[in-house]
Amino acid sequence: MSTISKQQVLDAFHFRSACRYYDPSKKIPKEDMDYILELARLSPSSVGSEPWKFLVIQNPALREKIHPVAWGIKHPVQEASHLVIILAKRNARYDSEFFRVSLQKRGLTAEQMEATLARYQTFQRDDIKILESDRTLFDWCSKQTYIALANMMTGAALIGIDSCPIEGFNYDAVNQILTEEGLLDPQEYGVSCMVTFGYRAKEITQKYRKPAEETISWIE
Ligand SMILES: Cc1cc2nc3c(=O)[nH]c(=O)nc-3n(C[C@H](O)[C@H](O)[C@H](O)COP(=O)(O)O)c2cc1C
Repeated sequence: MSTISKQQVLDAFHFRSACRYYDPSKKIPKEDMDYILELARLSPSSVGSEPWKFLVIQNPALREKIHPVAWGIKHPVQEASHLVIILAKRNARYDSEFFRVSLQKRGLTAEQMEATLARYQTFQRDDIKILESDRTLFDWCSKQTYIALANMMTGAALIGIDSCPIEGFNYDAVNQILTEEGLLDPQEYGVSCMVTFGYRAKEITQKYRKPAEETISWIE
């Protein structure tokens, strides 16, 4: 594998800032967007669950429907080159079809499948305790989607593309819009977060971060 320098990676992290002003005249080439979506697809997830879907919302009318309930999108909604809505799986219980089908695809025997699901049961019920409610189970899947979100934004920054993660919206309203559009089966998936991509229209002010001493502890 060829590598890039630490400085190049750090430069990309400094470059990546929440972009609130996109240049509407600049569109991300299809191959660059495919690259960003591939980074999402390749992202790791707990027990390899991949409990996500990525909706690339390029339809102007649908964007207009979403914008009034998405106060976190600060710019005119058509200005972002691309808007991606990330969905998270609902009811990803250890014994669901979702897990059975995914394990089958990986070629597990019936015996291996039962052993794996039993392990997932202990994990979900006793260790990470996410079987307590539909919400805890959904939030566990949402957590996985944020790994994909971060990878997309970092990978975009590495090739000079701007982004902004978006949690500022009414979740019920966006779920309803997507359901009405036939883009979402609310029994199966729910909105986890959104992210816009494009090219900044103006320089972004210096980012603020807490000093390393406040956030990192070495225990030796
Ligand atoms: C999960 C998440 C949700 C966010 N939601 C919004 C949002 O709805 N609207 C917005 O303008 N910025 C949003 N932000 C951007 C943050 O405000 C921003 O990342 C933070 O202030 C740090 O600034 P920086 O990203 O420029 O370094 C969100 C960030 C994260 C990580």
